[in-house]
Amino acid sequence: MKRFLFIMICCVAMHSSWAQLNIIPKPSQVLTAKGEWTLKAKTKIGAPADVKWTHVAGMLASQLGKATGQAPQTVKGKGDITLVASADTSLREEGYRLLVTSKGVTIQAQTAKGAFYGVQTLLQLLPAEVFSPEPVAGVKWTVPYVTIKDVPRYAYRGLMLDVSRHFMPVDFVKKYIDLIALHKQNQFHWHLTDDQGWRIEIKKYPELKTISSKRKETMKGHYSDQKYDGIPYEGFYTQEEIKDVLKYAEERFVNVIPEIEMPGHALAALAAYPQLGNNPDKIYQVGTKWGVYEDVFMPREETFKFLEDVLTEVIDLFPSKYIHIGGDECPKTQWEESRFAQALIKKENLKDAHGLQSYVIKRIDKFITAKGRRMIGWDEILEGGLSPNATVMSWRGTEGGIAAAKERHDVVMTPNNFVYLDHYQAEASTQPVAIGGFTDLAESYSYEPTPAELSPEEAKHILGVQGNVWTEYMKTPAYVEYMVWPRATALAEVGWTPKNGKNFEDFSKRMEVHRKRLDYLGVNYFGAPINKKFEYVWPVKK
Ligand code: ACM
Repeated sequence: MKRFLFIMICCVAMHSSWAQLNIIPKPSQVLTAKGEWTLKAKTKIGAPADVKWTHVAGMLASQLGKATGQAPQTVKGKGDITLVASADTSLREEGYRLLVTSKGVTIQAQTAKGAFYGVQTLLQLLPAEVFSPEPVAGVKWTVPYVTIKDVPRYAYRGLMLDVSRHFMPVDFVKKYIDLIALHKQNQFHWHLTDDQGWRIEIKKYPELKTISSKRKETMKGHYSDQKYDGIPYEGFYTQEEIKDVLKYAEERFVNVIPEIEMPGHALAALAAYPQLGNNPDKIYQVGTKWGVYEDVFMPREETFKFLEDVLTEVIDLFPSKYIHIGGDECPKTQWEESRFAQALIKKENLKDAHGLQSYVIKRIDKFITAKGRRMIGWDEILEGGLSPNATVMSWRGTEGGIAAAKERHDVVMTPNNFVYLDHYQAEASTQPVAIGGFTDLAESYSYEPTPAELSPEEAKHILGVQGNVWTEYMKTPAYVEYMVWPRATALAEVGWTPKNGKNFEDFSKRMEVHRKRLDYLGVNYFGAPINKKFEYVWPVKK
């Protein structure tokens, strides 16, 4: 009985001290002990003498310096906080072990990336004020004694941003990357081209800048209102700006995946280069309304030359293994009505226009593969047969992902009902205008990326999960943040934490402190009481 009582007390103690830890995403293993270590003015941060490790130590010193008013000194080797290169293969590429005792803090990892994630956890063990951009007085900078071993569940943990429908400035893109890294996510999917604007400089095709990046006006209110604001709109990243973002992301261990849409969602490009479309004589205009356009790339040799030239510059710029080619929502009307497209279908012995979509995707896959990269695309790339090296991003539910994994193709899960962060997150009449749909925080949190239908072998092809942020209705960075956070915080935990470690009640408690962190970071997150259940009302009441 006594022994039972002792175990009970330990469990309660562990539970209550666990509840104080407030780490998001929740680590895989945590053991707490009584006591705490205190950060002092003379605290030193030690790290191996390697550029990447030293950089991680420097970032920690810089953040501590901002919030406490005194940046710790960084030293080679041992410090009071020490980053240690470990040979423990169970930590894999991204895991870390964090030990806090009376002697100080040790973060062990196989890689600097793992150490970076250990540092994120250490920051979350400190009071939320540590995220302040300026010194906060009167805070006791303590860290509870703890032993953590933490390894992510999935290798791919991403967040996408559409900058075509609304352009987002470089500083905001960097802040977005900061938040991805804070949440131990590792992929930033940058949706750079679409019907309503082409946003990346391609030196060989200068009119993508002078024509395709500009539209006459933008839809106002809901699509059903069919109203326009009459205000010209434009935005564009130079290759120098992109290089700057890529360096910033690399320093935070975030891979940036560029997306160049094809063969659909091509209207902005056609506005500058009409010869790549169905009718070279047509005056195409960069899209001003939302939705899917019938004007798509016509798969002539000239079009392939354009796409391959564009991809060559993109591949030269972006070090990402994955290159996203879109592939979604390509209406087949023009191909069905085109003498050229029909002749090509016949010549290549294809079944129909869907076969032609597959032909386009397979050629592009071959091109990207020959450049040593991997093609990734939305699940429509399954149409007419999947090309050999393709990775599928399953967005129209999970069926595409399941079919691809069964064919032993890699998959990133992005089913719209759980991860589309442009959906309403609360009762629509209480919210600024959004595209529609309803996905609240609890629903995003509840997502299980590995479908039960898959065998263990097939399930290995589920690389991970990503939140998608389409910006038709998000005109400003502040609105993007309002829609993204904290639902993307929930998705970060879906991607990182073991399945049996997830619990929404527990997450909600940790979110209370996490919201303070987001406050210090100046994030305009959606701040409604997070346990409130909202009804979805559609259309919006006026
Ligand atoms: C998509 O939402 N069209 C990928």
